[in-house]
Amino acid sequence: MRRRVLWLLAALASAGAGARSDLSDDDLERVRSITAPAADFSAAEPFETMQAGAATIKKLINADIFSHASGNLSFEGRQQFLVGNGLFRKDWVSAPSSTQASDGLGPLFNARSCQACHVKDGRGSVPGFDPLERTDAVALLLRLAVPAAAPAGTALSAAELAALPDPVYGSQLQNFSVAGLPSEGRVEVDYTPVTVPLAGGETATLMRPAYRIEDLGYGPLHPEVQISPRLAPPMIGLGLLEAIHEDDILANAAQDKGDGIRGKPNWVQDLRTGRQVLGRFNWKAGQPTVEQQSASAFSNDMGLSSPLFPSHYGDCTAAQPSCAEMPHGAQPHLGEHEVPGRLMDFVTFYSKNLAVPQRRDADDARVLAGKKLFYEANCIGCHVPKYVTRRDAKQPEHQFQLIWPYTDLLLHDMGDGLADGVSEGQASGRQWRTPPLWGIGLTAQVNPNATYLHDGRARNLLEAILWHGGEAQAARDRVVEMTPAERADLIRFLESL
Ligand code: HEC
Ligand code: HEC
Repeated sequence: MRRRVLWLLAALASAGAGARSDLSDDDLERVRSITAPAADFSAAEPFETMQAGAATIKKLINADIFSHASGNLSFEGRQQFLVGNGLFRKDWVSAPSSTQASDGLGPLFNARSCQACHVKDGRGSVPGFDPLERTDAVALLLRLAVPAAAPAGTALSAAELAALPDPVYGSQLQNFSVAGLPSEGRVEVDYTPVTVPLAGGETATLMRPAYRIEDLGYGPLHPEVQISPRLAPPMIGLGLLEAIHEDDILANAAQDKGDGIRGKPNWVQDLRTGRQVLGRFNWKAGQPTVEQQSASAFSNDMGLSSPLFPSHYGDCTAAQPSCAEMPHGAQPHLGEHEVPGRLMDFVTFYSKNLAVPQRRDADDARVLAGKKLFYEANCIGCHVPKYVTRRDAKQPEHQFQLIWPYTDLLLHDMGDGLADGVSEGQASGRQWRTPPLWGIGLTAQVNPNATYLHDGRARNLLEAILWHGGEAQAARDRVVEMTPAERADLIRFLESL
């Protein structure tokens, strides 16, 4: 018995240290030294400009900068990418239609194409901060959740229990529907300005959002429903994030560096294998793979079935019987799903191979000063700079690349200001996954209306930082205390990513 316990402890210890079954001892040593945090800020580090290793691209900077294929894709890969690109941009239509191969949209949906939300493969925009100049922003989704009641006699708090979907509206509000069916409602956001004084006499104004759902199509929401707004994130570098070795991510979770930062993995179900695996994607790391998230987007955002999400009715619930009576778009001669597996594979391939652009100005003195401040303020406690991807990653182009995504892919308590009260897997209503920062400096080039954070409330990078609380409170306070020149350097560094 005792021996067994000791063996288990040894196994856990080696897992925590980032053992990496894919590497020899020599390789592991090399990987550790090359991914060690920077110590010299007098010049850019070797390969630092190539943020995504050989997959990085160097192209003219314009609105298409997030839409290129990874630099190291083969000829065959590029053909697959192009087909996937067509499917990502395509407008789906409702069934039955004359264009049979692209029907099946809905009955309830948020948008007709992936691209409608992931604008030019970058992030989406919110309806706008000026109440007089609102646009129809489809890219802001509202997830709905009702806290599960704790079973009698247990001491579990609401946050520790999985949230349930709204009994009528399901797990997401769909603001569009096919002809003949009411849509679920319309999202309204009210912003209250909050002034934050900064050292050196500067101030910043943060916009605190409050969400309302108007024109409910199916009666009242559950009285305890919680709303979790989510803005479409950028699509670059996702295959490489999937190729980061789990041991490297868990090693960061296990480490307590005495700075009050404690990253937590989100364990979620892999629908292909039925196993609990590490969540990596979405704002709460609720999805384990690009494929599963893409299939979930077809289902929840567009109402289209695929092998992983076989219902043709997406997020329709039993309390919306008229929804399931609408025609669907599966074609017997194409298979049993509205998006057959073959098409799903193209979309997944595309989503995994959008290139991360090369860094700009990595050697600039001000950018280097900002990088030093990024380290000193302990932003790297969560925005972990670099990794070497798995040697045995599924796709050869993703193997053994030195990448600089600036994320630990773990969950952190970010304080009351950002909390949404909605749990997802092991993520509580106060926790969010550290988002990658690569490419963040090109956000406005791709979508001039794009904003930051999970619900797009931050109009610029400084506002995004000032919303940090909870485990990131000390890092945020450090930025408030910086001189105006230091803050400008820190932002310059972020803009160079
Ligand atoms: C209605 C808007 C909308 C549409 C349409 C949409 N997405 Fe998204 N997408 C989002 C939002 C919002 C998130 C973040 C969701 C979350 O945090 O739960 C997201 C996240 C993702 C992610 C994870 C990115 C990351 O960094 O974690 C991928 C991959 C993705 N979407 C692919 C797709 C694909 C493929 C399609 C089309 C089949 C699609 N999306 C359609 C809004 C949309
Ligand atoms: C405790 C972990 C943690 C620390 C420390 C931290 N961050 Fe973050 N950061 C996050 C999380 C989590 C989010 C997403 C929060 C959300 O969307 O609600 C985020 C979001 C951001 C964003 C917006 C990203 C996007 O895609 O919208 C920027 C920019 C950013 N952080 C920069 C910084 C800087 C600069 C520092 C240091 C001063 C820092 N962060 C420190 C966890 C952290």
